[in-house]
Amino acid sequence: MSTGPSTGIGTGPNNGPKTGTPPGGAGVPGGEPGAPAPSGGALRSGGPLLEVRDLRVEFRTRDGVARAVDGVSWSVAPGETLAVLGESGSGKSVTAQAAMGILDTPPGRITGGEILFRGRDLLKLREDERRRIRGARMAMIFQDALSSLNPVLTVGDQLGEMFTVHRGMSRRGARAKAVELMERVRIPAARERVGQYPHQFSGGMRQRIMIAMALSLEPDLIIADEPTTALDVTVQAQVMDLLAELRRELGMGLVLITHDLGVVADVADRIAVMYAGRIVETAPVHDLYKAPAHPYTRGLLDSIPRPDRKDADLYAISGLPPNPVAVPPGCAFHPRCPMARDVCRTGEPELSRVSAERESACFFWRECLRG
Ligand SMILES: Nc1ncnc2c1ncn2[C@@H]1O[C@H](COP(=O)(O)OP(=O)(O)OP(=O)(O)O)[C@@H](O)[C@H]1O
Ligand code: SF4
Ligand SMILES: [Mg+2]
Repeated sequence: MSTGPSTGIGTGPNNGPKTGTPPGGAGVPGGEPGAPAPSGGALRSGGPLLEVRDLRVEFRTRDGVARAVDGVSWSVAPGETLAVLGESGSGKSVTAQAAMGILDTPPGRITGGEILFRGRDLLKLREDERRRIRGARMAMIFQDALSSLNPVLTVGDQLGEMFTVHRGMSRRGARAKAVELMERVRIPAARERVGQYPHQFSGGMRQRIMIAMALSLEPDLIIADEPTTALDVTVQAQVMDLLAELRRELGMGLVLITHDLGVVADVADRIAVMYAGRIVETAPVHDLYKAPAHPYTRGLLDSIPRPDRKDADLYAISGLPPNPVAVPPGCAFHPRCPMARDVCRTGEPELSRVSAERESACFFWRECLRG
């Protein structure tokens, strides 16, 4: 069932904000880039960079308790890209926010699990220790670049601030660093554009600036939460390619959160599919594309527009994801599942091993694999 470092992903026993660096911060609000590692011993090297283990997050709402994240486990290694996929409300962002330490508590509450960064449980660190890690070692990129950038500061000033405030560099040195970063994220004419304001850049270029901010302090890990959703399809592909290239160049770990299975095929190494706060399938990306082992993943794959199909042929998974305060009993996917049988309405399928690197939380994964 669950997974440990072997597959890197899984679910437990039963199974926002904006990019990288908001104005004045690094990676996430309150970051302290450049600061030394937290006290209490050196961080362990080797093994996964970030490991989420059996994480549980709840929200108390007027309608009841929403189990937004219900026993999720995944991990990412240096140089690896993990895509976390699922429809709206499946718990992707809440997992990421908990991992980064930027979850609003309240209303959210982490009720269980561990978040290990190079083997140290971030949930047990003091807030100042946590801030140092997320500033210098982990950064986050969000969907909405425009509202993350300060409209009254030039992009050069915003990028440079990383280096003046956190690294004590001169303004001139910081400006040179800003240009270097803009070039690194392939912004044409960086030297000329460094003095421009965010609104003077296109959506795709603004997202590149956010990526530059996230990269500024050379983090070990970037979590990108729907980094291309606001962009048109061509620009989406360019930004994805850029992230993949940078990950290779810099050897970072990358967690790529998306609801669009179509955008991750060429970028991710592994995929974790979430449904109603749980992981329902994990697999190396090519295995999953070739033959999904969960009907939900199959539905997502069939929903990807393909050039050989007319729009009218496009499949859509019937129904809607469940309300998190009233998740159906049994398999949470059963009301929408074309393969559901009686047992699915009462029995809760746990993640089980499909192969050395794959898991599925479906009673009938063998049938699903066969197509
Ligand atoms: N502040 C909040 N108060 C109450 N419930 C919340 C809050 N934030 C998130 N949730 C609930 O947690 C669940 C998971 O939300 P999350 O934002 O992680 O979804 P997601 O998978 O990232 O979806 P999307 O693709 O729309 O970004 C949702 O059902 C949502 O309603
Ligand atoms: S356990 Fe049943 S309802 Fe759930 S995905 Fe598998 S076949 Fe469908
Ligand atoms: Mg989200």
